[in-house]
Formats: sequence, structure tokens, C-alpha cells
Amino acid sequence: MNRNTLRILLLTVLCLFVQNETLNPAIADEQLLWVGGQTGEVHTYRIPLLTFTTQGSLLAFAEARKLSFKDKGAKFIALRRSTDRGVTWSPTSFIVDDGSLADGLTLGSVVVDEETGAVILIYALCFHRYHCKPSSTMMVQSLDDGFTWSAPRNLNPQLGLMSFAPGPGFGIQKRHPPAVGRLVVCGHGSITGDGVFCILSDDHGNTWRYGAELKSIPYNQRKNNLDFDPDECQPVELDDGSIVINVRNDKHYHCRCRMVARSLDGGESLPVEELVFDHTLEDSAVAAGALEKEGVLYFTNPASANSRVNLTLRWSLNLGKSWVKDTLKIWAGPSGYSCMTSLKGNETEDHKYIYVIFEKGQKDYFESISFVKVDLYSDQ
Ligand SMILES: *[C@@H]1O[C@H](CO)[C@@H](O)[C@H](O)[C@H]1NC(C)=O
Ligand SMILES: *[C@@H]1O[C@H](CO)[C@@H](O)[C@H](O)[C@H]1NC(C)=O
Repeated sequence: MNRNTLRILLLTVLCLFVQNETLNPAIADEQLLWVGGQTGEVHTYRIPLLTFTTQGSLLAFAEARKLSFKDKGAKFIALRRSTDRGVTWSPTSFIVDDGSLADGLTLGSVVVDEETGAVILIYALCFHRYHCKPSSTMMVQSLDDGFTWSAPRNLNPQLGLMSFAPGPGFGIQKRHPPAVGRLVVCGHGSITGDGVFCILSDDHGNTWRYGAELKSIPYNQRKNNLDFDPDECQPVELDDGSIVINVRNDKHYHCRCRMVARSLDGGESLPVEELVFDHTLEDSAVAAGALEKEGVLYFTNPASANSRVNLTLRWSLNLGKSWVKDTLKIWAGPSGYSCMTSLKGNETEDHKYIYVIFEKGQKDYFESISFVKVDLYSDQ
């Protein structure tokens, strides 16, 4: 080995060492975006969603439940917007109002079309078919960075009458083959007809059709504890073009942990051969957050097999094969659903931070919605 080879080798080792050493997530800032019971009009805020926009803004959404904390009932969709990377936020605007329905809207999935800049929000109406039918899959979109929103459009003429609860979380736009540019929004079916289902659009959200599905067993029948019941889910695209979907294992089939499904064909199918159970990701059956950024996979949930407490961030350097032993505990108390995003601009900030939104409380997890800025490289 000559001196030059040795030098290159040493440099490479040093680089690898430095890279691994520096990923050290820490909380840089936290703000409560919504607190239930304070504004009069709203009893409880739940189901937080968070997204970047192509103009570098952050948008936070939540269900504003008018009369109670329950899943059914009338709601608004609440929005707050930040144009300074989460330092300050606009006042709340209610971008959708379902009136006084007994079985109102269900959030939902937000997806950004990076080719057009459109921000698309998909939600359900009458999801539980409680004093109403059929269920409707609805869409609103913003073409001005989340400032104004279209009137709601019912997608049932395209999708049919199946109950479909998107997300909760974000949908993706395919960046890598197959199906570059496709919008993929995944969610779950009605309680008996549960399972993971994805809807796909190849024309920037104009038309949608059902693609991949992973049905519960027994399908369209009442479930027992320990049945196979894939439920709320968060898709993430990896650099090889596969879509990895982190799924709520609602009836604890096989483990009290997360199911991970994978599509190799752009969201057309979810082969059972690709389904794994991630025992490291202990879970009590809840909606969780997942995000891929610069080759690292991130995951948030209340890290507990039995209860909604200990909202925790984990990270994987090998795309989910294993998780780094270190974790970041974001909140030790009651905590529920969570969602993550990051910005993809050229600012140093955009490389350094990811953003988490989650349900947080002192006594009950659904008391408030909190926004957390996580510094990934807090040593530097
Ligand atoms: C939450 O985390 C703490 C400290 O890591 C641990 O002692 C506790 O058992 C956890 N709670 C649950 C319910 O898992
Ligand atoms: C980032 O930098 C690249 C190359 O310098 C440039 O082409 C691109 O427009 C920049 N993107 C943003 C969001 O500024």
C-alpha cells in the first residue's frame, strides 16, 4: 500500500466516523399550536398533519372537533402556516367546515405536488356511516402555498363508495422510478372492511383510482383481538423507488409492534412476501410518523406496548433494517398521533432540522397539539 492509498483510506475512515458521530437529534424548539377547549368553537384538536411546501413554508393541519373529543361528530379542518421555518405561525384558519354532521370529517392526508406546487388535502366524510351513507372521499387543494383553498370536491364518482380514511399523515409524490410524479395517498378501510388501501393519481390530483391493498383477515367481518388488521399508515419513498408503509397493527397480530408493508411497483400492490413486523418499534396501536431524509429513516410514536405515553423519535441508518440504540424522548407524558416533515431547500437549516407535530397532554394525550423542531446535528 503506497502512501497516497493509505491517506485516502484514512480520510475515508475519518469521514465515516465523523458522519456517524454527528447525527445526534435534540429538541431545538417547541410550541403548542392548538389547545382544546379555549376558543369556544372547538372542544378538542386531534389528528395533526404537517407538511413542507415547495415555497419553503410549513403547514400544520388538525381536526377541530366542535362538540366533544370523540371521533364522530362535526368538525372544522384547522390550518396554521409558517413562512419562517416554524418560528412564527399564522392565526388558525378553518379551511373546511362540515356543519353539524353526526359523522363529520376525518383527517386525512396532505400531499404536495412538487411539479405544480399544489398542496392537496384528502379527507373522509361520514367515514363510520353513522346516521349517514355512503362515506365520501373528499379533496381540497391550495395553489398559493396554503393561503387559499378550493371548495371541497367529492372523489366518489372516481373512487366508488368504500369508506376510506386517508393517513393520517402525508401522501407522497414518486421521485424515483417506477411511476415518477405519481401521487400516492394511503389510508385504511372501514372498521369491518379494514386494511391498508392506497389511492393513486397520475395527473396531479385531477383523477384518482385505487391501487395497492393489504386487506384485514377475516375481511368484512367483525374483528377479534389478535386478528390481522392493518390500519392507519404512513408511506415513505426510499431512494430505490420502493414505497415503505409503516402501519398500525390494530389488533396486535403477531406482536405489539408496527407492521411494515412495501410496494415495489409504485403503489399498485403490497405483496404479502414483503410484509414484516418490526419488533423494535413497540406500539400500542396508534398512528405514527415516518420520514426519510438524506438516507436516514426516522420514526415517531408513543414508544410503549400498552399505553399512549413517551413520544419518542428513532432513526435508522439502514432504511429500517435496524434502529440506532439512542433515541430522543420528545415527551414522557401522555402522547398520541404524530407526523413529521422536513424542508428540501439549499439552506443549511434545511439539512439540519426535521419537524414533528404530535398530540400532547398532561393527563390525557388529546389536550393539545405541539410542534417540535429537532436539530439532527446538535453537536455541531
Ligand atoms: C416511559 O419511559 C420511561 C423512561 O424511559 C420508562 O421508565 C417507562 O416505563 C415508559 N413508560 C411506558 C408505559 O412504557
Ligand atoms: C439549490 O441549488 C441548486 C444548485 O445550486 C439550484 O439549481 C436550485 O435552484 C436551488 N434550490 C433552491 C430551492 O434554492
